[in-house]
Amino acid sequence: MKYKFLSIKYLIVLLLLLSLTKVMSQKIVRGPYLQMASPTSMTIRWRTDMPTTSKIIYGITKNNLNQSKSDDSPKKEHIITIDNLIPNTKYLYIVETGNTILSSADIFFITPPLIGTEQTVRIWALGDMGMGTDVQSKVYQQYLKFVGNNYTNLWLLLGDNAYAQGYDWEYQQRFFEYYQTDRLMMQTAIFPSPGNHDYTPTTNRVIEDPILDYFKIFSMPTNGEIGGVPSKSKAYYSYNYANIHFVSLDSYGIEALDKYLYSPDSKQMKWLEEDLKANKQKWTIVYWHHPPYTMGSHNSDTEIDLKTIRENVVPILERYKVDLVLNGHSHNYERSQKIKGHYGLEATYNPKVHTFGSSNGRYDNSPNSCPYVTDSKSPESQGIVYVVNGCGAANGGGQVTYPHDAMVYSNNKDGGSLFIEVSGNRLEAKFITEDGSIKDQFSIFKDVNKKTELKLEANQKSLLLNASWAGTYNWLHDNSKIEAVSVSPNVTTKYIVQDNQKCLQDEFTVKVATTYTLKDFNLTVTKSGMAIDWLTTQERGIVQFTIERQSQNGEFKPIAVIPTKTKNQFSDKNLFYRYLDYVKSEEQTVNYRIKTTDNEGVSYYSNIKSVNTVLNITD
Ligand SMILES: [Fe+2]
Repeated sequence: MKYKFLSIKYLIVLLLLLSLTKVMSQKIVRGPYLQMASPTSMTIRWRTDMPTTSKIIYGITKNNLNQSKSDDSPKKEHIITIDNLIPNTKYLYIVETGNTILSSADIFFITPPLIGTEQTVRIWALGDMGMGTDVQSKVYQQYLKFVGNNYTNLWLLLGDNAYAQGYDWEYQQRFFEYYQTDRLMMQTAIFPSPGNHDYTPTTNRVIEDPILDYFKIFSMPTNGEIGGVPSKSKAYYSYNYANIHFVSLDSYGIEALDKYLYSPDSKQMKWLEEDLKANKQKWTIVYWHHPPYTMGSHNSDTEIDLKTIRENVVPILERYKVDLVLNGHSHNYERSQKIKGHYGLEATYNPKVHTFGSSNGRYDNSPNSCPYVTDSKSPESQGIVYVVNGCGAANGGGQVTYPHDAMVYSNNKDGGSLFIEVSGNRLEAKFITEDGSIKDQFSIFKDVNKKTELKLEANQKSLLLNASWAGTYNWLHDNSKIEAVSVSPNVTTKYIVQDNQKCLQDEFTVKVATTYTLKDFNLTVTKSGMAIDWLTTQERGIVQFTIERQSQNGEFKPIAVIPTKTKNQFSDKNLFYRYLDYVKSEEQTVNYRIKTTDNEGVSYYSNIKSVNTVLNITD
């Protein structure tokens, strides 16, 4: 009996263990990772080691995740899109897949704001990252350290995302298992582009070949879901985030025999032109894998893909005033001047012809480091900054002519990534290396250095002057250090604000509408002469008063000019004026009037006052 009892007991334990093993073995092996972030929707993907159901439970308040979306058909690849979300709102979510529940305070995302909104947007751009190296981990950890608690809005992949052939197992081991170790992948949507290594499994570089895992792993907005012209292709697409238009291109696929995606008559190139033409966003950032300018581990003079892209794609980007281009491929960091019109070999690059100004764009108080400035209303492109950022997992290599002459800064020693922050009309970018240092940075400002004419109307007491940039300020008239100042000039006045590095300057010319009331205009005859009195109220815009006396021939002639007492400020008090005219008139009756002149040279005359000098002597 004892043996029987034991065997039943062991059987129960065995069954429990088996069922536990079943539960434990059902785990999330990939993700969750976010895709296709739009102001009102988010796609959440993950992979499980065995087929299970899919469910996302979500909401705005931690203790009230009151919405959910699920799919009961068992699968390993889970894709759930939740919609009807509120723009610019933090959503917490829980992944429930079979018996596994993934829940943590770190699992959340923030929906993008409405398209066109001006707010701070943080972007992390990473190239050639999926190698499975120690450098790759360091680059990731240093970025997380750099960004701290600030939310990263977008994560861009610049191609060659998993080495060496872009197979799913390589993505698993060298991409997902590196980045899903920390919060970023659960919080920030990835917008990828493919590289040549992502294309390796297909012969002849066939675009969207079913064999290519890149196109299975990622979801792309191919139908203009987030703005932009629908591309109808997962290889290239566009989207908007806040006031930025993004374009992701495929620089390697071939759509038909001898028709590369960068061939002038390819579908991609036709779509690109249409898309950029329709774009109304303040900023445009375009990214793809193969750089048009590099002398790092690749050579943009000798490699046909790079050379042709420079000749075919760059002129279109310039035509539609793209601001920034990001690439990978060369396992280096290289950052150009703001350049335009350079389509030839490196030897033909001429800074006098192809760059704008001599500043290096760093804006870091070092010599010659003013930011790049762009006028969005200019009919012409004012140049593009190109960044090669293919050092997400390694750095090295350099051609004979390294660094490329068009580059302000080149680095073939440090792995790193690019952080971009766009805020209103200011774009800041920083190269964060594997040791956490920032070895390059640059700034672009749009529509600054403004000259503005304003008018203080009669019914306004003051005007608010706003500097046209976000940063530091010094108002020259009163040394204010704030972005906006209130002014109430009495006459036309010019106000100037500069940034601390004296790189930026706005000029405001404020004209004033004249206001005044002249009253109590009186003449008093004294033994020695005539006292002329008057007062004004609500005086602004007045420069002076001219006393005029009528001469024998009937003409009024000026006898004195009295300046205003307002001291360049609007006055809502009574201001008293007196002038003593000591010159005795030969006439018994004398006529006076007052001519008031404003800051624009316009004159106003008072009534004529008369007095009999014989009959009206008062003292
Ligand atoms: Fe590459």
